[in-house]
Amino acid sequence: MNAGATIWLTGLPSSGKSTLALELARRLRDRGERTEILDGDEVRARLGFEGKFSRADRDVHVRRVGWLALLLARNGVKALVPVIAPYADIRAEVRAEHLAEGVTYLEVHVATALDECVRRDVKGLYARQRAGLISGLTGVDDPYEAPVDPDLRLPTEGRPVAGCVDDLVDLLVKQGLL
Ligand SMILES: Nc1ncnc2c1ncn2[C@@H]1O[C@H](COP(=O)(O)OP(=O)(O)O)[C@@H](O)[C@H]1O
Ligand SMILES: [Mg+2]
Repeated sequence: MNAGATIWLTGLPSSGKSTLALELARRLRDRGERTEILDGDEVRARLGFEGKFSRADRDVHVRRVGWLALLLARNGVKALVPVIAPYADIRAEVRAEHLAEGVTYLEVHVATALDECVRRDVKGLYARQRAGLISGLTGVDDPYEAPVDPDLRLPTEGRPVAGCVDDLVDLLVKQGLL
């Protein structure tokens, strides 16, 4: 078993974060690695998150998930985090916390263009926003600060999931994590 790490998958809603985390986790388990997925909705539900989607609420959420991931990662787990994390400064904060403990943090930008995310609209969020039923949707009427210098920028449009997961595995190999 290799070292733990946090692999953060940031991207717009429906960009493919959860799908890629699930497939990567499967691959990692097949290779005998310990891995866990900290998916945003699940963490919010499980930890009884009282906040919603304001800037302040999102910051609290991302810091919490970042801390959970750090606890796992420093104990030999590959913590996969498919969480939007729209703000660059909070992502940087989580990275710094990891570095301070000598724990690897990798930022992956799941770089699916907004129009493709709108076409996919897995949870119907874009449609609900357009219908005026919700507001504050990341990438539409709420900010998304795309990573400027991610460890990996991963386009997904027109690509099979398996090929994208190959890229993620390559990244981990390059980092000496596999
Ligand atoms: N290469 C790819 N990588 C990831 N998802 C893809 C890819 N190609 C198509 N998809 C589809 O895009 C959708 C992404 O949804 P999801 O993973 O729930 O997004 P997110 O977690 O980012 O909101 C899924 O329906 C998935 O099958
Ligand atoms: Mg998701």
